[in-house]
Amino acid sequence: MHKHHSALGLATTPVKADAGLEIAERRPVQPVTLVRPHAARRAARFFIEKFAGKSLYAVKANPSPDLIRTLWDSGITHYDVASIAEVRLVAGLLPNPTLCFMHPVKAEEAIREAYFEHNVRTFSLDSIEELEKIVRATAKDDVAATDLTLCVRLRVPSDHAKLSLASKFGAMPNETKELLFAARQAADALGVCFHVGSQAMSPAAYVQALGHVRAAILDAAVTVDVIDVGGGFPSIYPGMDPAPLEAYFDVIKDTFEALPISYSAELWAEPGRALCAEYASLLVRVEKRRGDQLYINDGAYGALFDAAHVGWRFPVKLVRRTPSETRSTGFSFYGPTCDDIDHMAGPFELPADIQAGDYIEIGMLGAYGCAMRTGFNGFTAGETVVVDDEPMASAYVEVPAEQARPSNVVTL
Ligand SMILES: Cc1ncc(COP(=O)(O)O)c(C=O)c1O
Repeated sequence: MHKHHSALGLATTPVKADAGLEIAERRPVQPVTLVRPHAARRAARFFIEKFAGKSLYAVKANPSPDLIRTLWDSGITHYDVASIAEVRLVAGLLPNPTLCFMHPVKAEEAIREAYFEHNVRTFSLDSIEELEKIVRATAKDDVAATDLTLCVRLRVPSDHAKLSLASKFGAMPNETKELLFAARQAADALGVCFHVGSQAMSPAAYVQALGHVRAAILDAAVTVDVIDVGGGFPSIYPGMDPAPLEAYFDVIKDTFEALPISYSAELWAEPGRALCAEYASLLVRVEKRRGDQLYINDGAYGALFDAAHVGWRFPVKLVRRTPSETRSTGFSFYGPTCDDIDHMAGPFELPADIQAGDYIEIGMLGAYGCAMRTGFNGFTAGETVVVDDEPMASAYVEVPAEQARPSNVVTL
């Protein structure tokens, strides 16, 4: 899949060798990150070609400079940044990216630096206090900025999402009228944004949220120039097989077009997970086996934060030259640090004869996996290797027929 224009419909992938095996045979002591730029390119092209608006990459999902450059080269020009560190990172990496500072609670110093030093013009907010902060921080010699795009974030339910984002941010229905009205006065362009929660399993999540947007716009009677449907676009994990992304894109487009907004209004989205989940996997070593518990060399303080803390089940595969003939069984993992909470309950299905010294590939860690790593207890990732085999699951390519399937594409 080096040609990323698959036109319409899912592309069928050529079968590639199992890259993890070759690397495991070198017996690396530290976890190895396998990155697949072709998978990120494919996801970016898919969004650019099929989503009916602008796709902003949510940098927090994976701030790897290599990934950001790959997305840029594939046509992603807009970036959702949530901190001044992300602003500086992307501004320093790319020639002229459009940065949108979409964290609704920012330090005033961060807003000022973003506006005056990095050309950031788009900010989100969910309170009058934040609006006042933005207006103050972007004024010069007491003259207010006239080039702001201000996106009012609404609180919407996370009913369809695997990870809720419904509690912390977003203006409540009884606050939106005043806020939209005030933001309209300060903005060159007014936007409305929301987040349906991460890994939204149904397109209905966006229809529901856009219903809240419609009510808020009608209530405030303001002209809206941007509708930003946020992130939440799903990837594929064990036990989570969402509708095709096109189904999400279709309902968003239809619902957007029926909104009471300016006819030139723009549609935006902020995909994080969907653009990078397939980008990376991790090759880990089993250091000890105790019954159905495997002690591996990465964990809760490494790339497996979500596996430990929210019980996320990533796809796994035993990496051995001679495939195991034994039945598979459910294992839990312990990570390398000394903490009891460095534990990933799984269950992760692996052959029953797995033992210390074996290597496991853990897939779909490109989003909120590698990005979460710490060096706690002295355990951190080793080398990163670029590979060109297929990720363990994909929302963008048809999985080849069983007999032709490379051994690292698993059936979930
Ligand atoms: C404001 C905002 N936009 C986009 C995203 C990306 O979400 P996802 O990875 O679910 O697509 C997040 C994630 O937390 C977010 O907070």
